[in-house]
Amino acid sequence: MKVTYYGHSCFAAQVAGRTLLFDPFITGNPLAKAINVSAIPADYILVSHGHEDHLADAADIAKRTGATILSNYEVAVWFGKQGVSRTHPLNHGGTCRLDFGSVKFVNAIHSSSMPDGTCGGNPGGFVVESQEGNFYYSGDTALTLDMKLIGESTKLDFAVLCIGDNFTMGVEDAIKAAEFVRCDEVLGVHYNTFPPIKIDGQAAISRFQANRKNLHLLLPGESHSFAPV
Ligand code: NI
Ligand code: MN
Repeated sequence: MKVTYYGHSCFAAQVAGRTLLFDPFITGNPLAKAINVSAIPADYILVSHGHEDHLADAADIAKRTGATILSNYEVAVWFGKQGVSRTHPLNHGGTCRLDFGSVKFVNAIHSSSMPDGTCGGNPGGFVVESQEGNFYYSGDTALTLDMKLIGESTKLDFAVLCIGDNFTMGVEDAIKAAEFVRCDEVLGVHYNTFPPIKIDGQAAISRFQANRKNLHLLLPGESHSFAPV
C-alpha cells in the first residue's frame, strides 16, 4: 500500500483507488513549505482530534475535493458548521464500512479541543481494513494497553505512530506500541516540527532496529509502499 507523507502527522494512503488523507496540517508547518496544499488529492479526510496541528487544512481540502471528513462526533459536527458538506461522525469502538473498506475509531490518550476553543470530543486513532491490506494510525496518544486489542484482532501491514515525545509517545514507547499492535513496519510521525518534539532520527531508527522493527522516516512529499504481510 502506497503512503505519501506531508509532514508532521499528515499522510495519505492509497486504498482501493481512493485517497485517504490523515490529519492535514501543511499551512503553518515550517517543514512542509514545499508542499502545495491546493494540489493534495483526497476522497476521505480522517481527523484524529481537534488540535490545530491535525486539521488546519482539512476544511479547505474537503471543500476543494468534495472529500468526506471522518472524525469523532464533536469534530465532525464542527466541520459541518465550517461549511464542509460531507462529514461522517464516529465514536470510540465504532466501525464504518465505506467504498474502499472499513474504518474503526479506536482509543487514544490525549486531549481534544477545537482551534476556536470549543469542545473537540475525545481523541482517537484509526484502524483501516481493506482487501489491499490493513493499517493503524495512532493519532496523538500515550502508550496504552488498549493497543494490544488492535494486534489481537487485525493483522497490520504497517502502523503509523507518533514518536516525537513531549505531547505524545516518544521512541521507546512507540517501540512498545508496535509490539502491542504486533507490527514491525512503522511510519514515524509527529516529530521535529516544533522544538519540543525534535528527535534524533538516526538514533530512533537504530532503536527500532535493535527491537527487530523498521522505522520509516519520510521527508515531506516522499512516498513509501508497504508490502502486504
Ligand atoms: Ni494533539
Ligand atoms: Mn498534535
